[in-house]
Amino acid sequence: MKSVGINGYGTIGKRVADAVDCQDDMKIVGVTKRTPDFEAKMAVSKGYDLYIAAPEREKLFNDAGIEISGTIDDLYDQLDIIVDCTPGGIGAKNMDNIYREKGLKAIFQGGEKHDAIGKSFNSFTNFEDAQGADYVRVVSCNTTGLCRTLNPIDELAGIKKVRAVMVRRGSDPGQIKSGPINAIVPNPPTVPSHHGPDVQTVMYGLNIITMALLVPTTIMHQHNLMVELKDSVGVDDVIDKLESTSRVLLLETEKGIDSTATVMEYARDIGRPRGDLFEIAVWKESLNIVDNELFYMQAIHQESDVVPENVDAIRAMLEMESDPSKSIEKTNRNMGISG
Ligand SMILES: NC(=O)c1ccc[n+]([C@@H]2O[C@H](COP(=O)([O-])OP(=O)(O)OC[C@H]3O[C@@H](n4cnc5c(N)ncnc54)[C@H](OP(=O)(O)O)[C@@H]3O)[C@@H](O)[C@H]2O)c1
Repeated sequence: MKSVGINGYGTIGKRVADAVDCQDDMKIVGVTKRTPDFEAKMAVSKGYDLYIAAPEREKLFNDAGIEISGTIDDLYDQLDIIVDCTPGGIGAKNMDNIYREKGLKAIFQGGEKHDAIGKSFNSFTNFEDAQGADYVRVVSCNTTGLCRTLNPIDELAGIKKVRAVMVRRGSDPGQIKSGPINAIVPNPPTVPSHHGPDVQTVMYGLNIITMALLVPTTIMHQHNLMVELKDSVGVDDVIDKLESTSRVLLLETEKGIDSTATVMEYARDIGRPRGDLFEIAVWKESLNIVDNELFYMQAIHQESDVVPENVDAIRAMLEMESDPSKSIEKTNRNMGISG
């Protein structure tokens, strides 16, 4: 049973904590918070030991009546690995200033730059490369979404090149200070966006160019893909491949799942915790092949798709499993993800 800590119990951290907690080969030893808010109280009420990420803030937690188990300095020595879920840029500093010195393995999130961490991870494309690694970055929600569908398509038909337009949510549902409220923002305004190069950190050598927009929605990202194939295949072959691919769901407009709003409604109806959708949702009707170029549209639940990948990264880095499909299957089973 491996001991895991979560530094930063926010949007991603609290979900990774729950995903680790339901596995049978790893356990949560502690989670950290800086702010004594409802999330800190919820962590304690769920049974997680809570450590203060900023020791000088201890009085705030005492004043708020939140039970703490110590400061983050008390946590490190109890861990086999820490999953850093702090805001982008802080993780890399933690790696250089703390984790290296403590000799502690660490996983980082997509807000960190690939070059700062040195190794990026996706369960399906390069699990083997994280075997025994000390520091690994799980690629961002958008990159994870691209890899989840491009990898099986590459296996099926080979990919000559990918062009993708990413329609990105303006902020997460709980963030009230980000926008846009009433605009469509080229973001970045330059082409290509950073998403293509990010995919190349885990799908080596893939020819991919992306462009991205921000829109006034909080619930999901949406991607529009054009994929030139090497081999000639039919739409039914692609459907069969995606239907048998783990962490990908084919959903149908015809059955009422006609927008990101109804995709999220579906996730709530199937009883997922927090209404999360760990899988990438591909609209079946959007799949089409013209002159050997495959077109499709997909939706990404940005708050949760990277969560199972964090669990698999722990298994790879701690050499608990060398076969990616076995780790993926175990993570899925314990998290209630079918397929
Ligand atoms: N949200 C997404 O859609 C998404 C998707 C994929 C990847 N990511 C990546 O995941 C990472 C975390 O994002 P998030 O959305 O989960 O952020 P978040 O909701 O803002 O949570 C960040 C957490 O880190 C804590 N924190 C803030 N500053 C800290 C510091 N200086 N030292 C230690 N802890 C600190 C916060 O503590 P307090 O709340 O206690 O102050 C909070 O618990 C980022 O790299 C992000 O790019 C995010």
